Amino acid sequence: GAAGLVIGAAGGVGVSSAVSGDDGAGGSGAGGAQALTTVGATEVAFHGRHQAGITTPLQARGHLVAFDLAPGAGRKEAAALLRRWSATAKTLMAGKAPAGDTGIALDAGPSSLTVTFGFGRTFFDRTGLASRRPTALDPLPAFSADALDARRSEGDLWVQIGADDALVAFHALRALQKDAGDAARVRWQMNGFNRSAGATAKPMTARNLMGQVDGTGNPKPTDPDFDRRIFVPAGASGAEEWMAGGSYAVVRRIRMLLDDWEKLPQDRQEKVIGRRKSDGAPLSGGTETTELDLDKLGTDGKTVIPDNAHSRISAPEQNGGAAMLRRPFSFHDGIGPDGTPDAGLLFVCWQADPLRGFVPVQRKLDRGDALSAFIRHEASGLFAVPGGPAEGEYVGQRLLE
Ligand code: HEM
Repeated sequence: GAAGLVIGAAGGVGVSSAVSGDDGAGGSGAGGAQALTTVGATEVAFHGRHQAGITTPLQARGHLVAFDLAPGAGRKEAAALLRRWSATAKTLMAGKAPAGDTGIALDAGPSSLTVTFGFGRTFFDRTGLASRRPTALDPLPAFSADALDARRSEGDLWVQIGADDALVAFHALRALQKDAGDAARVRWQMNGFNRSAGATAKPMTARNLMGQVDGTGNPKPTDPDFDRRIFVPAGASGAEEWMAGGSYAVVRRIRMLLDDWEKLPQDRQEKVIGRRKSDGAPLSGGTETTELDLDKLGTDGKTVIPDNAHSRISAPEQNGGAAMLRRPFSFHDGIGPDGTPDAGLLFVCWQADPLRGFVPVQRKLDRGDALSAFIRHEASGLFAVPGGPAEGEYVGQRLLE
């Protein structure tokens, strides 16, 4: 059997014994086949303190799906659904096939599949659980540049699927939609992608469709305050108790106006972000990981990183230490009738409290970000993503049982 890498839901990596024999990584060839085999064999743990898919390294494929409970479905149906979904997610993440399977992923290993479940604001009214709705789910404020499509926003339930293989990801999408049965209907669905594992000679920060290195400033799981900023602490009081170990996801479909962006000369593009395009290093100097020097002046007497540069405005030091973990997928949904690509960023960010993470940063970006002229926020969602299930538990059980 192939030795598989098992990534803990909290991001730690360990080596496990074989992934399930029959549909585990099939290639038995030595040498050159090895790297490909590793991509398929990587398995992410379903159980843990946090759900998988938050600190898991970015996967090559993603599906974001929101469901609304069907008319007449309430707490009992929701609990049964989360129980079914959890069982399916656990099976698929182990690289196994659920009963009555479609066979779409039959020859592939788990391929780092993660399935992450969240609850939207409206879920709590539909299930009679309004008294346990966290205040963190209060609607996000409206921002001046919002062009939000309500039909592609929010939802009772949210599912994030990620995998390093497109068939494995689609397989999970079909299985979970089938599980929804009569209890819930798809409200909206979005497809995303990232660079494939192994496409670069060494592991590197991702690039987005504007060509920028994107993700450098993210907090690291090894930072001493990472947990406090990203996850709801245990022992939280009252309505939030069931959210211990959970996190809040803000989802924004952000269209990139690529025709306009690509007309900008590279030096202007770099000033919009405040970082070099080639390697993501700050314009104030150094390498990708050098801290921004926000006070450094150029020969013209102006700050080298402009006042309206995206990375200056969004820097945690400029926002009272607010931090979020950005974990996006790119999207491309074809070319519109006007010839412009319907492409951009499925921005997903994670934080213990959206009022200290996303909201203050987006408020400032909304007022004066040089990037604003090249993007459009088209859909929005805010979801409470409960902590990871313990062995024998289903996701959300502490709320629903
Ligand atoms: C940093 C791109 C939207 C928050 C960056 C960087 C790039 C970038 C290239 C610098 C590299 C890095 O640190 O990752 C984009 C693009 C966006 C977008 C293309 C839209 C399509 C947003 C939004 C927010 C946000 C909506 C939050 C409201 C941040 C934060 C940083 C950052 C917090 C890190 C700042 C630091 O720690 O220095 N973004 N961004 N971005 N962005 Fe964005």
